[in-house]
Amino acid sequence: MASNAEDQQNQQGRHQEVGHKSLLQSDALYQYILETSVYPREPESMKELRELTAKHPWNIMTTSADEGQFLNMLLKLVNAKNTMEIGVYTGYSLLATALALPDDGKILAMDINRENYELGLPVIQKAGVAHKIDFREGPALPVLDLLIQDVGGVIGYDNTLWNGSVVAPPDAPLRKYVRYYRDFVLELNKALAADPRIEICMLPVGDGVTICRRIK
Ligand SMILES: C[S@@+](CC[C@H](N)C(=O)[O-])C[C@H]1O[C@@H](n2cnc3c(N)ncnc32)[C@H](O)[C@@H]1O
Repeated sequence: MASNAEDQQNQQGRHQEVGHKSLLQSDALYQYILETSVYPREPESMKELRELTAKHPWNIMTTSADEGQFLNMLLKLVNAKNTMEIGVYTGYSLLATALALPDDGKILAMDINRENYELGLPVIQKAGVAHKIDFREGPALPVLDLLIQDVGGVIGYDNTLWNGSVVAPPDAPLRKYVRYYRDFVLELNKALAADPRIEICMLPVGDGVTICRRIK
């Protein structure tokens, strides 16, 4: 019979495998959120894009459904009209954004990879929101450097709790890519916390979302 400690370890192992997009320490609780609040309200187009993306080899990159719902709600609450999407992949959070904006809303969407965007594009077109999207293929940083004087409002950074690894002990058994990017995430979180130009709020939604509001 497995000991409590073994049970706990097995549970954690399973959680890392099954619930990699959730920081909740209970897969059952995450499943409850998805089934009670997210999936029943998920627009048909977002469901279609989520299912299409699930078949793609890099599907681990996609925004989770609970986070998509959160972003959609947030954008509506702040009456967002102009947004930027940095890192599109197949476009799940892009679609969540496009559906939240008014018909004359605009999204400047940037990704170094056009192919993945084009995979999701037919779903976005069918949803009738593609006209809001200005997709630019290439690295986002030079575009952001140009825009920096004008960028105000709200910025949401995704993955700021990085699979929970931001608090993992140095010898924790982390996947290679999680370990590799962890230091960058820690550095970003520190920089955001110390930046006097913004107010911040870090939320344990999806893989961690930090909302920043520019005040200067
Ligand atoms: C985690 S995925 C984004 C997930 C996406 N928001 C979604 O809802 O599925 C990160 C994306 O950033 C893109 N990327 C990586 N480096 C970039 C850069 N320097 N400029 C713009 N996009 C970049 C990658 O090609 C990848 O598609």
